[in-house]
Amino acid sequence: MNRADAPILLLGGAGYVGAQTAKVLKDAGRSVVIVDDLSSGHRESARFGELVVADIADAARMTTLCRDLGIVEAMHFAARIEVAESRVDPARYYENNVVKSKWLLDALLAGGVQSLVFSSSAAVYGDPQAPRISETHPCNPVNPYGRTKLVMEWMLEDYVRASNLKCIALRYFNAAGADPCGLTGEWHEPETHLLPLALQAASGRREKFRIFGNDYPTADGTCIRDFVHVVDVAQAHVAAVKYLATEQALPFSAINLGTGEGFSVRQVVRAVEEVTGRAVAVEYEPRRVGDPAVLVADPTRARNLLGWQPARSTLPVIVRDAWAWEQHLCTLAGSDA
Ligand code: UFG
Repeated sequence: MNRADAPILLLGGAGYVGAQTAKVLKDAGRSVVIVDDLSSGHRESARFGELVVADIADAARMTTLCRDLGIVEAMHFAARIEVAESRVDPARYYENNVVKSKWLLDALLAGGVQSLVFSSSAAVYGDPQAPRISETHPCNPVNPYGRTKLVMEWMLEDYVRASNLKCIALRYFNAAGADPCGLTGEWHEPETHLLPLALQAASGRREKFRIFGNDYPTADGTCIRDFVHVVDVAQAHVAAVKYLATEQALPFSAINLGTGEGFSVRQVVRAVEEVTGRAVAVEYEPRRVGDPAVLVADPTRARNLLGWQPARSTLPVIVRDAWAWEQHLCTLAGSDA
């Protein structure tokens, strides 16, 4: 079977980025098989491929799945992603993000997988020592979540050296926004991320939005982040899998996914007010532990290696798409936005 005719396996394909990627792949004519245990993903989000409800660490099942379907390409999104939770329950993070991923990796290799796109994070860098972070910036993660992602990158690099697997680790900065057609979006329970929480305050699902710290060394005192539209993140996965199928593909690469431009928490709240036409009640709280003041990507490598450039990652577009999704979630929750 031709590589492009076989399905792509999406581990954790019912989550925020996985579901969007499944949709983009489907739109590009690829067939998708989603494996998700639905522990944090949603069945409704897994509608862009065939859903197999299973644990990624069920090695026998993963190997059989790959062999039966002739799968050679996979994307691994399945992970716990909350920084604060990772501090109080590191065991859960090492179990899910490292131990289970190791069993998965063995199973994928036994099943014939040769190409893997891995969801890594800007959290691998820790406190930035430069205004824009390139992939050569030192990796000193400051929380268990970031450490589990870095351990996985190292594991993948070692596996790649010893096998015919090729791999790209995509280091996401702040993925945000939602599917422009309103079919999928950010849906974490509990929600801890900036944009969905600010939108919940605008829709009335939440009384107010709490800003963690206004005494950072930035222009308005609030943290600055690099927001990249989830559709652009999904497109980067498609570009990565295409790149890995080429003869000249490097066996292992870590690649930043960001825009190179940062916006402050305050600016995001203002954008929410502008897009929604509603006031967001804001309350200032002390800094959240472990939040760097500024996290902005140098996205040069993604452009050079993958030919990837963000197309929807402007703040108004991100907020507009996320607002439509928030209104959908309000309908599901039975409250009017
Ligand atoms: N923030 C608030 N109030 C909130 C939520 C967030 O002020 O209610 C602030 C945070 O303090 C931070 C900024 O908004 O300054 C962004 O916070 P998020 O929680 O939305 O995102 P993070 O930058 O902390 O983390 C995100 C991903 C991580 C990833 C990291 C790497 O969620 O998985 O980016 O860049 F590791």
